[in-house]
Amino acid sequence: MAQNGTTANGVVEEIQTHPLPLPVKVSNIRHTKIFIDNKWLPSTRGRTFPTFNPATGVKICDVEEADIDDVDKAVEAAKAAGQRGSPWRRMDASSRGRLLHKLADLVERDRLLLATLETLDTGKPFLQSFFIDLDGSIKTLRYYAGWADKIHGKSMHVDENFMCLTKHEPVGICGAIIPWNFPLLMFMWKIAPALSCGNTVVIKPAEQTPLTALHIGSLIKEAGFPPGVVNIIPGFGPTAGAAIASHMDINKVAFTGSTEVGQLIQEAAAKSNLKRVTLELGGKNPCIVFADCDLQLAVEETQKGAFYNQGQCCTAASRVFVEESIYEEFVQKSIEEAKKIVIGDPLDPQTSHGPQIDREQFGKIMDLIDSGRKEGARLECGGASVADKGLFIQPTIFSGVRDHMRIAKEEIFGPVQCIFSFKSQQEAVERANSLQYGLVSAIFTKSMDRALAVSAALETGTVWINCYNALHAQTPFGGYKMSGSGRELGEYALAEYTEVKAVTIKLTESL
Ligand code: NAI
Ligand code: MG
Repeated sequence: MAQNGTTANGVVEEIQTHPLPLPVKVSNIRHTKIFIDNKWLPSTRGRTFPTFNPATGVKICDVEEADIDDVDKAVEAAKAAGQRGSPWRRMDASSRGRLLHKLADLVERDRLLLATLETLDTGKPFLQSFFIDLDGSIKTLRYYAGWADKIHGKSMHVDENFMCLTKHEPVGICGAIIPWNFPLLMFMWKIAPALSCGNTVVIKPAEQTPLTALHIGSLIKEAGFPPGVVNIIPGFGPTAGAAIASHMDINKVAFTGSTEVGQLIQEAAAKSNLKRVTLELGGKNPCIVFADCDLQLAVEETQKGAFYNQGQCCTAASRVFVEESIYEEFVQKSIEEAKKIVIGDPLDPQTSHGPQIDREQFGKIMDLIDSGRKEGARLECGGASVADKGLFIQPTIFSGVRDHMRIAKEEIFGPVQCIFSFKSQQEAVERANSLQYGLVSAIFTKSMDRALAVSAALETGTVWINCYNALHAQTPFGGYKMSGSGRELGEYALAEYTEVKAVTIKLTESL
């Protein structure tokens, strides 16, 4: 997701106003251990796991593997850091905000290194890491830094006998489990609101991409956060992740990833201590392109939505419904647009399309492409891996896609654009709403009346009008139906990280 209002194409515009940033040389990775209580610890069970560069298949380094015992240690540290009377609990709210700003300053200072690490670990093009992921991360930190001293309750004069006031207290220890598609950005989406509200955090990066999270550990310490406020435990889902979801002393868990694992998290939370749960899960996001739209804009935005980050986005524009009268032209223009994409070494600033994250995802995508062909969709371009390059898949367009096909229903999480045609507005809305997913949608039309009417009918947490992947720290993000529960970002996220306490006072005198 591009979270600074800058589109993937917008990267190119930004380059014209910035001196061209270049990746730094990374000869050794400094932070590969578990970060608990502001200390770097080895794995309790003495295990490590490798992390790979998906563009080359070469191992970058080994990382200490956290398991259930390390989660316990992290929770103990977080508990001590957040107890009443601790420096973190006694810190005044504006100082919390200053710490978040300090962290944002340090992320800005290390921006080139962080963008390079992100590209090495994920395979995403360097300029996208540098401009989009880093910008979004810094803006998220600064946005919630600003909230820290503005979080407060209300007072209600109930009647002449009672007065009530509400206090917004931290929830306590917040667990977070994040995916590999936006490792740094998802890290900030989780920690920034949690810390702004005065919570402590135990966070698990994805096993494919632990490196930027661990570097941020060093910056958290340097910024001056008290020990134990943020604990980072690199490890695997069924071990370290499951230990977070079922821990009796963790008060809340925030998860981004597959719908399947989201269900496991909610179940584990229910079966343990009924911890609060927020989930940001999959999508099969519909775009509705009306004949009266700006056609070139619709082609570019929907394609960016489909191929951005190699299609590895929960927001991927994976179902594009185009009104019959402009269908052929839309498909032709989309094919032309796809041919402009530059596949290559993600560290090269010219590259706009990198590899998929790992062999498992690569296999899943190729299988779905195969199913599209077999079920009778028309392969307009791409459809194959890139010769002699392991995990690269060509940007792929299918036209003539029908609603019953697997590519029309399953989350592909790869660079595959599926184009459907529709006849009427009502039909388009019904088909858009027909799945169990409800994350984002987009509408392309010059008629604002139509756009607003259709946006009211779409069952998604976000509706983009004449744009795509436009995410901002101020704007809430989350899904309807099986795409998730709760909201991240914006003022709305604060409610997910605070308990409201009502204090009722009996009045004995009145004038
Ligand atoms: P996943 O849901 O398995 O992994 C996401 C995170 O959850 C990782 O940190 C992982 O270690 C953790 N995890 C896995 N199993 C767990 C468990 N039992 N308990 C607690 N934590 C657990 O996703 P995966 O396997 O990487 O990708 C599978 C599919 O999920 C993708 O093809 C895509 O469709 C979807 N996905 C969606 C994402 C989104 O942004 N909403 C991000 C990543 C994947
Ligand atoms: Mg998985």
